[in-house]
Amino acid sequence: MKLHRPEPILKHDALPVDATTKPRQAAIKLRDGKTLIVTDAYGTGADILEALRTVIRAPSSEASYAARQAYRRTVREASLRLLAPVVKHRMKLKHAAPIGFLEELYPKLVAFALPFVQVQELHGAWQTYLDGVKLAVLGHKVFPFYGTYAPTRTSHLELFATWMSQYEGPRTRAVDVGTGCGVLALMLCKAGFEQVLATDDNPNAIESVSRELRRHKIETPVELQHVDLLGHDPQPAEVIVFNPPWMKGEVRGHLDRALYFEDGLFERFFEQADARLTPSGRIVLLFSNVITLVQPDVPHPIEAELERGRFKLVKKLKRKVKPPRGKDGKRRNTREKVEVWELERV
Ligand SMILES: C[S@@+](CC[C@H](N)C(=O)[O-])C[C@H]1O[C@@H](n2cnc3c(N)ncnc32)[C@H](O)[C@@H]1O
Repeated sequence: MKLHRPEPILKHDALPVDATTKPRQAAIKLRDGKTLIVTDAYGTGADILEALRTVIRAPSSEASYAARQAYRRTVREASLRLLAPVVKHRMKLKHAAPIGFLEELYPKLVAFALPFVQVQELHGAWQTYLDGVKLAVLGHKVFPFYGTYAPTRTSHLELFATWMSQYEGPRTRAVDVGTGCGVLALMLCKAGFEQVLATDDNPNAIESVSRELRRHKIETPVELQHVDLLGHDPQPAEVIVFNPPWMKGEVRGHLDRALYFEDGLFERFFEQADARLTPSGRIVLLFSNVITLVQPDVPHPIEAELERGRFKLVKKLKRKVKPPRGKDGKRRNTREKVEVWELERV
């Protein structure tokens, strides 16, 4: 299983930049398609990336979702043209903090370059991995490996805990499809399932959960599979849980697969779940009304399946999410609700 990592750049003809270069001038060069490499200090790169956000004008806050996405993509593409040197598993810049993932992901590479923004992401991921993410639904922290989706909000997990507490069916085998950092699989273990299968098509997620299992000494056997959705495991399960991506969108990087779904994902999921569910089994989807609010033209993937008549809705739990804070620190209004959909065969 080959782990995802930022692609190392072994050869380039990037123009050197340092503290004598004006950040705005460097940002304009990036915007115009030039590749640059920072040669002195971490702060130089950080200043240039900050200047890039003023050089490429952001759309207004009323702009469409598509326009805001397009802006983010343009900034991202330009920022990837700013490089940072890496030597002996450290960013070779003054004031750059050590990043353990550089050694883990590039054990044999001595000197190369990476996009500065990706080194920043590796650094952020390393800090999260060291500090862990506290999840009250588990009663402990999880330590997501680089490139693994970890929840930043928890109301959907709390709603799933409510669903779990109301579940009265058998607990022989459950599947957590798209396990990410493993939170739902661990909740299923905690709820007393005798066996849990956790899958993900992101190899880093499988690595993450395998480290998590070693850390916590879970009594329930958890099998990990790096596969598309439910994979080829023929064993029936009484509960198949999936917290899928909640919006339709273009998948460019492996982490996008946690957030955006492409055509066919839900169809494949229901097809596979139908083949694997016990006769009285339950499909449980963690979802949100965000798709109806932001993408009203996209057919609702769960309702579309229900209309086919293969499964029926047993219950749907809903809960308002805590509104996010705006730049002024005040909570903004939101109509977003998280949902748990429980389906059974017709
Ligand atoms: C929204 S995240 C949820 C992660 C985790 N279950 C949680 O609740 O925090 C969706 C997960 O599904 C995985 N995923 C997306 N498409 C998949 C596919 N076709 N097969 C397997 N996993 C997939 C992603 O890699 C990601 O880890």
